[in-house]
Amino acid sequence: MSEPLLKIQHLNKTFQSNKGSVQALHNIQLHVKEGEFITVIGPSGCGKSTLLKIIAGLDVQYSGDVHLGGQPIKGPGIDKGFIFQEPRLFPWLTVEKNIAADLSLRDPNVRKKVDELIELVRLEGFQKSFPRELSGGMAQRVAIARALLRNPKVLLLDEPFGALDAFTRTHMQEVLIDIWQKNKTTMIFVTHDIDEAIYLGNRVVILKPRPGAIRNIVSIDLPIPRKKTTTSFQELRLKVLSEFEKIEELELVDSSGI
Ligand SMILES: Nc1ncnc2c1ncn2[C@@H]1O[C@H](COP(=O)(O)OP(=O)(O)O)[C@@H](O)[C@H]1O
Ligand SMILES: [Mg+2]
Repeated sequence: MSEPLLKIQHLNKTFQSNKGSVQALHNIQLHVKEGEFITVIGPSGCGKSTLLKIIAGLDVQYSGDVHLGGQPIKGPGIDKGFIFQEPRLFPWLTVEKNIAADLSLRDPNVRKKVDELIELVRLEGFQKSFPRELSGGMAQRVAIARALLRNPKVLLLDEPFGALDAFTRTHMQEVLIDIWQKNKTTMIFVTHDIDEAIYLGNRVVILKPRPGAIRNIVSIDLPIPRKKTTTSFQELRLKVLSEFEKIEELELVDSSGI
């Protein structure tokens, strides 16, 4: 059996502040295979962003083991692409220059890869456009292409479609699945939308809050492309929803002090 690409073991994270300490993550165990699409779902404040930042190497103050490709994660790097809710493009650069960023488009290898990515994220004809001329969904596709140009071992996405309207969001989900199938990049995608988590993921990791911990992991064995209206999709939605109901019951028990 091959080693998982990402291995998280006994991960605990506590934030210290002048108001006291907050345990953001408690004993997280997660193994992700190369090429897997993992979605992470849970209520606000359950540690989703904290988990992604630790995998990205943006936060190294934790206890436990986090290994990527057999190596401990020591800090940020291009092997870990990160997509935020907002695209964070350079407003003064064209689409193709935003994707190339610090790499030169005069390098034929870069040029070729940028052109391929523009086709992959369906932005043909917009190479010379500026971010202000793009819709929110197009801008987010530029951010995804920029991250993919660096051939990351893993692409981490923190509610990347959260700011988009419902129609654009559905379209972006289709585009992302297409990118994943063609590029085979390992994805870890945070959302609080149950349908989005089931539509995209091979496995849905359900987190519960206070402290942030894995409540359950649900495998999604539906063929791709998935249809949100099928009975099997609805059954999975009920399964994930029932996990949230269990979380609410736990919360009630907690708050009643039993
Ligand atoms: N920099 C920080 N300092 C103190 N507490 C933090 C910090 N970042 C996050 N937290 C706390 O950690 C918990 C998890 O936060 P976060 O990972 O942002 O949750 P999510 O992304 O699931 O909404 C929350 O209780 C939050 O208040
Ligand atoms: Mg968050």
